[in-house]
Amino acid sequence: MYGKEIARVLVSKEEIDARVKELGRQIVEDLHGESVTMVCTLRGACVFFADLIRAMDCDMEIDFIAVSSYGGGTTTSGEVKMIKDLSSPIEGKNVVIVEDIIDSGVTLSYLKRMLEAREPKSIKVCTLLDKPSRRKVDFKGDYVGFEIENEYVVGCGLDYDQHMRNLPDVCVLAPEVYTK
Ligand code: IMP
Ligand code: MG
Repeated sequence: MYGKEIARVLVSKEEIDARVKELGRQIVEDLHGESVTMVCTLRGACVFFADLIRAMDCDMEIDFIAVSSYGGGTTTSGEVKMIKDLSSPIEGKNVVIVEDIIDSGVTLSYLKRMLEAREPKSIKVCTLLDKPSRRKVDFKGDYVGFEIENEYVVGCGLDYDQHMRNLPDVCVLAPEVYTK
């Protein structure tokens, strides 16, 4: 189904769907009947986010934030920039930050610290993917879909230079694409 820029499918849409349902149930259970603000980190988390919130049977608000730690290509710049802030205050609210992937951990540790300063009632992080071997700063997600090896992946929201976010599966990018 995919062209030669894709080396292989790493996590299929079916596996993602099943895991998203489990994550949604777990988050709702941990909220003990309280409402939550689900925060989508743009742009990578949008596909996962849309599935996750529909797997959660509870009262919620949704909001969007955009930060960036990546230039082009597949390596981090180490710098985090705020591109779009939340639309509503989160003081006193339960917040779950939803991310596509934790790689170096730089983006999320910055984002979590920044939102913590606004004094939410609670703040947790849910990520579709986690590459623990790549950490530059100590960071742990509260809800992790899949732990993966150190390979560059695209699809289900994840991009290579802003392309391929629409692939239904999480796929390993063929190394020829970025070593050229
Ligand atoms: P961190 O700050 O290094 O943890 O970077 C997290 C961000 O890097 C994610 O939100 C992604 O946008 C991007 N990223 C890290 N690894 C990958 C990957 O394998 N594919 C696509 N994007 C990635
Ligand atoms: Mg991202």
